[in-house]
Amino acid sequence: MCGIVGCILKNNDKNVAPILFDCISKLEYRGYDSIGLATYDGDIHIKKDKGKIDEVNQKLDLPDMPGNFGIAHVRWATHGDPSKLNAHPQIDEKMQIAVVHNGIIENNSKLKADLIAEGHTFKSDTDTEVIPHLIEKYMNEGFDLEHALRKTIELLDGAYAIAAISSKEPDKIVATRKDSPLIVGLGDDGYYLASDSPAILKYANNIIYPEKGEIVILDKNGVVVHDEFDNPINKEIDTIDWTPEMAEKEGYDHFMIKEINEQADAVKRTLTQKDNIQKIIDELDDLSRICFVACGTSYHASLTGKYLLESLAGIPTDVILASEFKFSAKTLDENTLVIFISQSGETADSLKALDVANKTSKTLGIVNVAGSSITRRAHYVIQTQAGPEIGVAATKTYVSQLSAIYLFAALLSDNQELLDELNKVPDYIDDVLKEIDLIKSMSERYNYAKDFFYLGRGYSYPTALEGALKLKEISYIHGEGYAAGELKHGPLALIDEGIPVVVVIPPGDSHKKTMSNLEEVKSRGARVLAFGSEDDDELDEKATEVFKINSEVSEIIAPLVYIVPLQLLSYYITVEKGFDPDKPRNLAKCVTVE
Ligand code: G6P
Repeated sequence: MCGIVGCILKNNDKNVAPILFDCISKLEYRGYDSIGLATYDGDIHIKKDKGKIDEVNQKLDLPDMPGNFGIAHVRWATHGDPSKLNAHPQIDEKMQIAVVHNGIIENNSKLKADLIAEGHTFKSDTDTEVIPHLIEKYMNEGFDLEHALRKTIELLDGAYAIAAISSKEPDKIVATRKDSPLIVGLGDDGYYLASDSPAILKYANNIIYPEKGEIVILDKNGVVVHDEFDNPINKEIDTIDWTPEMAEKEGYDHFMIKEINEQADAVKRTLTQKDNIQKIIDELDDLSRICFVACGTSYHASLTGKYLLESLAGIPTDVILASEFKFSAKTLDENTLVIFISQSGETADSLKALDVANKTSKTLGIVNVAGSSITRRAHYVIQTQAGPEIGVAATKTYVSQLSAIYLFAALLSDNQELLDELNKVPDYIDDVLKEIDLIKSMSERYNYAKDFFYLGRGYSYPTALEGALKLKEISYIHGEGYAAGELKHGPLALIDEGIPVVVVIPPGDSHKKTMSNLEEVKSRGARVLAFGSEDDDELDEKATEVFKINSEVSEIIAPLVYIVPLQLLSYYITVEKGFDPDKPRNLAKCVTVE
């Protein structure tokens, strides 16, 4: 959902553009319809265009720009088509101010009309363009760059992370944020701004997190932060332990397949959070209800959490889509724990719900990105240990979220058996990964399909939903996940000759009923792709394709393991269809608009 970076180098003679280009390339997962850079060397220089980073770079040679400081942007269009004019940086009329922005300025139409009435001329359809014009206006009135930015944000409604440079006041970058992420990196060779840490891991791992309304000023001597009342403040410096290699493909064709292959380790590392989770549980007394709030894949992890907490701990548990949260807000009280599951910790809908929940209830964030907004605003935090995830489709962060939720549920219900089971999950995942070739050949036989159905019961229902989401978001094949028992209430009407139906059928209580549902779709001509236990011989007879999983993987633990072949199936179908699984059309990894 747009990515921004900024950098000022300590060495005046070194060009910043290659570094800006390197950093912004790491944020391509946040938006890939256009890219642009602005640097300063006596004048502001801008290179930008519509298209993916590589395409634009081939045309414009982006690292070849003069100047030792600048800003850059990757765009996920909200206002105005992807086009060269709408790409950032956006500038004022005299090209003396350049701005990159992530977020949405909701009152841009009014601001634009006022500025036009004052004689400003606009060139783009973006909401962002009002920002350089407002900064220009205030600089013309005598404000310096920092205070012109401060005056500007007083007028802005909406969400933003903004970085600006000006030829009227060179050798500095000013930046600010509200509801969109922004971090500041303190490196050996310079100072950095970025929407997310993978952008700057190679250059800086000491990080400052600016809060809403604070203004950050970067020059070659350091970083100064002013609070919303214009007072200089000392910010805490955090060190991130992610390595630059973690944000590289390391020989894999795509980030997605690298990240699928990292899942056993991601689970192992997340399971080390046991003591931290126990401490949180010890502080939670009088818990009468739990609400999960999340979006997308994180919502599917939450659904599994509901089944676990209700069946193991007997605590009534709801799962609410963050964008639909307002209807439930009034039902929260001080004995409700509201758990926010989020990979990025920056999803706008989740943050909005968190601010509401914080007023009445205890809140817990289960988040992958350290230092992100949810980790700073929730009362308690469990940090999943997946490492940076770059592919837009969540994979290793999903199994890490599940691992944290399973630990939480097992500890809350004092279930030693489940804790022991959890420790075996990394090996079960590795067993699945040894059979990648089987999935690859299965995908060759089904990449023709226009529709897929995914069925699962109980703990396997969220797995069916997540499997279908993985397919639709990257391969553009319609995938629909259904609770197997609901089949007869609608979707059965859509099953006909040749349609692939993925059936998630681990051994356990729901096996028998799921097998009946399998028969129902089979007898209507579906091709059944069954994912079940290695000793489930019935599947060999009844399914068109069978992928076998270690028979020790019980129904309760299955969500952590059975999702892996489904991720692989989507990945290989997508690659065979010639699409880029890391950058699905119209999607972004971090959704910072409501
Ligand atoms: C986007 C991403 C999904 C993610 C969802 C929620 O749609 O593409 O992969 O599941 O946002 O994001 P979060 O960071 O809150 O988990």
